[in-house]
Amino acid sequence: MSTLRLEDLNQYSDVLRTRQGEAINVRFVEPRDTEELQHYFRSLTTRSRYNRFFGAISELPKGLLSEFLDVGARDRFTVVATRMVDGFETIVAEARYALHAETSTLEFGLSVDDRWQGHGIATALMKNLECRAAALGTERMFGETLRSNETMISLARKSGFAFVNHPDDWKLVRFDKEISLAPKDVPCASWRLVALSRQADSPSATA
Ligand SMILES: CC(C)(COP(=O)(O)OP(=O)(O)OC[C@H]1O[C@@H](n2cnc3c(N)ncnc32)[C@H](O)[C@@H]1OP(=O)(O)O)[C@@H](O)C(=O)NCCC(=O)NCCS
Repeated sequence: MSTLRLEDLNQYSDVLRTRQGEAINVRFVEPRDTEELQHYFRSLTTRSRYNRFFGAISELPKGLLSEFLDVGARDRFTVVATRMVDGFETIVAEARYALHAETSTLEFGLSVDDRWQGHGIATALMKNLECRAAALGTERMFGETLRSNETMISLARKSGFAFVNHPDDWKLVRFDKEISLAPKDVPCASWRLVALSRQADSPSATA
């Protein structure tokens, strides 16, 4: 497993493109995002929040908020996807992922601002997560969603995930995928950094 350098989270930022080609910045959440992150969740429709958290909440409860902001704690990470709106960096999507080192898997959940849904942001973000998962050395990634969440189910199917019943909860379905990225794709900063650190570790061919 590679180790993230949490003291410099910015180096793991990536630029994704919406289907229309607009640039979206993906980076780890930071303490300065606290208000904006809560604003983002409050602004989601009730349905989107329910689908994201499998229950009715109007904002992140205090404990969950601090977990979201504590990047790297217990191998859990939050990324936000942002774009500039009227000169302000605005969150348009978020994803949270957990590294389960013992099973070499990465678990994730995500949401996209309702006004930005249907622009390919989740598709791009899931590819980015796949790259982050590969850089962490995991073999599979998976998520869980409500059986009634047709959008997420359709998105997961299109993104190459297979479905299995949830072991404990009949209302949920689990989608799972083998990580298949080859290093030559290098589609995220995490992997570029892993590649660079490997180059630095290996003796120079011209020495
Ligand atoms: C599920 C969600 C993340 C999808 O985000 P998105 O950025 O709109 O997704 P994309 O634009 O990348 O769409 C990808 C695919 O999802 C499916 N999809 C998107 N919107 C859909 C809709 N309204 N109805 C049915 N399927 C839909 C389509 O298959 C689409 O592919 P296509 O456009 O080629 O047909 C978003 O709807 C969301 O945030 N929902 C609330 C939170 C949630 O459900 N999270 C999942 C729990 S982990």
